[in-house]
Amino acid sequence: GASSAHTENDFLECLSLQFRKSNSESDSIYTPLNASYSSIFQSSIRNLRPASKSGQKPVVIITPEHESQIQAAIYCSKKHGIQLKVRSGGHDYEGLSYISQTSFFIVDMRNLRSISIDTEKNTAWVQTGATLGELYYTISQKSKTLAFTAGVCPTVGVGGHFSGGGYGMMSRKHGIAADHIIDAKLIDANGQILDRESMGEDLFWAIRGGGGTSFGIVVAFEVKLIVIPETVTVFNVTRTLEQNATQLVHRWQYVADKIDDNLLLRLFLRSINSSGKRTIRASFTSLYLGRVDDLLIIMQEKFPELSLVKEDCTEMRWIESILFFAGFQGRSLDILLNRTQASTRYFKGKSDYVKQPIPEYGLKGIWKFLNQEDVNRAELQFSPYGGRIYNISESEIPFPHRSGNIFMIHYGVGWSEEENAKSGRHINWIRKLYTYMARYVSKSPRAAYFNYRDLDIGMNSIEGNTSYKQASVWGFKYFKHNFRRLVHIKSKADPTNFFRNEQSVPPVSPW
Ligand code: FDA
Repeated sequence: GASSAHTENDFLECLSLQFRKSNSESDSIYTPLNASYSSIFQSSIRNLRPASKSGQKPVVIITPEHESQIQAAIYCSKKHGIQLKVRSGGHDYEGLSYISQTSFFIVDMRNLRSISIDTEKNTAWVQTGATLGELYYTISQKSKTLAFTAGVCPTVGVGGHFSGGGYGMMSRKHGIAADHIIDAKLIDANGQILDRESMGEDLFWAIRGGGGTSFGIVVAFEVKLIVIPETVTVFNVTRTLEQNATQLVHRWQYVADKIDDNLLLRLFLRSINSSGKRTIRASFTSLYLGRVDDLLIIMQEKFPELSLVKEDCTEMRWIESILFFAGFQGRSLDILLNRTQASTRYFKGKSDYVKQPIPEYGLKGIWKFLNQEDVNRAELQFSPYGGRIYNISESEIPFPHRSGNIFMIHYGVGWSEEENAKSGRHINWIRKLYTYMARYVSKSPRAAYFNYRDLDIGMNSIEGNTSYKQASVWGFKYFKHNFRRLVHIKSKADPTNFFRNEQSVPPVSPW
């Protein structure tokens, strides 16, 4: 209505005044009147589903080049009651970084993406607007034996990814991204710029897996880099049901978390249409941190059923393996710097944790789901745990999925623009599959991975207060008992709940 337009105008005036005060260019402010507004809004959106539902467009998008502009944004947001959302890579599964039910604006971190590498201390300061591809590329230009352990898709943003976990192809050997954060620069609800020392160990604990969103705006993370061999080996072998895929996937569950830490065997399960007939394909997509001859010895001893041969494998540099797993094999490394490479489409994702191997008849039930004719582009990923992930305690950081989890399941289904009118049946499909899987996965809580955000598992009240009990429904799934500590920290760090979204930690006392 008129009064909300009034508030929005006051808010915009506040922003430009504050920006002028700090001598910053106001071309980092995009209102709907600005010609670039739409392209800036859409450029990092990876999933069209959330934005195509109801919801509002941001009143303004700001792309700060300096911290003072973030401080200004916080000040004006508070003063005029326009909700702030922060976006780094825009890969949030539910679009929580760029859509809202209430009047809001976006602080888009794209211009804060510098990366500085210290090859003496093996550390890096990474601004949160950087993508994983930019980070991997930059490390590879400095050293042949340094790397970082984080996700596979190069366009994922550091801001959301590191603050929510960060699993990738080296996670069995080296853990997740959040395990390696050693310092951070955070702007809190009072606009104060804090580092590890001034924020204190509680807040520093919270932003390593508990999601940045609830606690402030992370401007940069300092991480410990990892040391890798100059040559690594990759393979991707696919087996059909005729080639014993069911037995192999079943057997994989007894091997994947126990095998040599240097080896990560990730499984992709799909149904493909081959000359009018549906068939299941299981692809074992793998990285070994070492040479092919050593890999073959390990596979022969621990997983001979897969019959891996030398011809299946390729030796390469670690940075080339990044291209391989991103589907860019043979391309020039520069492609990692392309922030708009991935195709945008509609999808829904969900996650689970498996603690007991799924029996063969259970797998056959999954194949039935995958073979349903009306679902295209559906896929399950089984990501093995074990190794370093198991050696870290559940409470070390908020990410709690440690010892006892054999693997994580990612369920995904995608569809095109033309099919979006019938998106309901894809959503129904994935929800039914999730219901079917209940008997095979973790219980009380049925755990989920925060970075695979899923609003089906529960959410906060859009307006008004969310009780501890209400938030616990989703909170314990993502964080288990760490959720209590997150709530406690939130209550101290941001008692007025300035930083909030549909699944942010609420400031209420659990005691
Ligand atoms: P986005 O900008 O959407 O932010 C996500 C959330 O974090 C939002 O709530 C946002 O407000 C908040 N946030 C962002 N920047 C912040 C900042 N600077 N300070 C405070 N809060 C901030 N995961 C994984 O572990 N391994 C993988 O291999 C992959 N692969 C993958 C591929 C693809 C195609 C997608 C779409 C997603 C993944 N993911 C993943 C999941 C990914 O880790 C998850 O979506 C991250 O939150 C994305 O971070 P972005 O910064 O890109 O998202």
